[in-house]
Amino acid sequence: MTGRVPVIAIDGPSGSGKGTIAELVASHLGWHLLDSGALYRIVAAVALTRQIPLDDETALAAMAAGLEIRFDSGAVLVDGEDLTGEIRTEPVSRAASQVAAIGAVRAAILEAQRAMRRPPGLVADGRDMGTVVFPDAELKIYLDASALVRAERRYNQLKNKGLSVNFRALLANLEDRDARDKERAVSPLVPAPDALIIDSTDLGIEEVLDRVLAEVRIRHLN
Ligand code: DC
Repeated sequence: MTGRVPVIAIDGPSGSGKGTIAELVASHLGWHLLDSGALYRIVAAVALTRQIPLDDETALAAMAAGLEIRFDSGAVLVDGEDLTGEIRTEPVSRAASQVAAIGAVRAAILEAQRAMRRPPGLVADGRDMGTVVFPDAELKIYLDASALVRAERRYNQLKNKGLSVNFRALLANLEDRDARDKERAVSPLVPAPDALIIDSTDLGIEEVLDRVLAEVRIRHLN
């Protein structure tokens, strides 16, 4: 189709490396980047601050629809307040996977995600980019890795930041979130039928990036 802004959808579970790959692909192509997980994290962080119960679907959806969100060179600004660090904390991660299971919350932020499709192109990172938000994406990648390797990667990241972490608790949390993301009724984490599945368990970032960029070339997206 002429004039359509191309989208590369990159979905997968947490720790699969999709955030890093999405960033690298976007910067390589000079395209926009949508970190859709950050949106669910923002809704969760604001719910915790405003003490909105995580099962009050109507209040959560209304709040989500009313937020003014800006991504500004790596910083996340919500109604003018910098929530960059806060949305990455463990309590917010847990709450994010709860609010993400609510259909009304997902519906409230659907159009804002689609509005990010701007020239010259968009790399969209999440769980339902290829299945629900951009079903017509020009390229769909589903990036997977074993739970153990994903937990190890997260463990090393946190260690490198000087944080003390319990590996078993981290693995249990990750498996918990995986189960919730995959088993929920609305927009579960599942590869789109036309997605290219890449298992990064034994692959480094460079190798995954090379495979994605090869697909970009095959499809003449750059
Ligand atoms: O990718 P992440 O860890 O930042 O995502 C935070 C939570 O949001 C996670 O529980 C999965 C959920 N999520 C989702 O349901 N749909 C998306 N498109 C992106 C994230």
